[in-house]
Amino acid sequence: MKFYELPGEQRIPALGLGTWKSAPGAVYAAVKEAIAIGYRHIDCAPAYQNEPEVGKAVAESLASGIMPRQDLWLTSKLWNNAHEPEQVQPALEKTLADLQVAYLDLYLIHWPVLFKSGVMFPRQSDDYLTLDAIPVSETWKALEACVGKGLVRNIGVCNFSIKKLDALCQKASIRPVMNQIELHPYLQQCAMLEYCRYNNILLTAYSPLGSSDRPAGMKKPDEPTLLDHSVIQGIATKHGATPGQVLLSWGLCRQTVVIPKSVNPDRLRQNLAAAELTLDLEDMTAIAALDRGYRFVDGSFFEGPGSPYTVKELWDE
Ligand code: A2P
Repeated sequence: MKFYELPGEQRIPALGLGTWKSAPGAVYAAVKEAIAIGYRHIDCAPAYQNEPEVGKAVAESLASGIMPRQDLWLTSKLWNNAHEPEQVQPALEKTLADLQVAYLDLYLIHWPVLFKSGVMFPRQSDDYLTLDAIPVSETWKALEACVGKGLVRNIGVCNFSIKKLDALCQKASIRPVMNQIELHPYLQQCAMLEYCRYNNILLTAYSPLGSSDRPAGMKKPDEPTLLDHSVIQGIATKHGATPGQVLLSWGLCRQTVVIPKSVNPDRLRQNLAAAELTLDLEDMTAIAALDRGYRFVDGSFFEGPGSPYTVKELWDE
């Protein structure tokens, strides 16, 4: 397993298991199988509505002695309805209880988007708060306090633009170690990669395979598919690998964390083995040409009726 170094002699496994879209029922078996075959990093979130099942699998795996807690990396995320500073620790404690652990390795602000307390998914304008209602620096201070209390070892963000990340870094006492964003050959985010390298922030690539199992409401009729692209398929054939492995290996070659989701035992194995595949310069050059700034998860679901959020402002593009 490949690792990336973090402050304080910590290291994060470069390939983890994504659990977004893994249904309760399926995710329990997937996490157990993943840990049994060697995954040591599970990416979770309360918004995925399956943390209790993930926790059951984690607890059983730890109890069986496969690995000690310190060898398993657990990430979770603060949902949009708990950014009020006094809500941060209770939200984290709920996740800890669901995952059946005493601490997380990484806790991330899930989106730079605010919902009113108690709103899981907004339905009307009243359900939203504007971004300036709770300054991110205040939420961040509450996250820092959770580090001080030993509830989480590292903190970071998801879906932050360079502008938002930079503004946060200016005010943070504990700097974010991670930005988890959508990354794949159609959305290579090279400026973000460069900014984060320069500032010693790691990137995690979500939707590294194109997340084709997104709910229909999150899909566009004409969206491109990644796994079928002839360049990806050609590189896979050349290396005797699968297209999925090429996409994951590409992410690892760029020194990003990748968190492919699967609930299928064969694909879990296949994805883990992607860490053994090394792409050459010719492959990386061919894939570099596929960038088209295309988001599968474009945030337009936050533009519902009466929402103060726009996709343009979300990504600062
Ligand atoms: P499944 O869970 O049945 O394996 P992403 O990680 O980008 O969100 O993509 C997840 C989607 O890709 C799921 O539909 C998942 O299905 C599928 N998937 C996972 N691994 C592979 C793979 N190696 N090849 C093709 N599809 C995969």
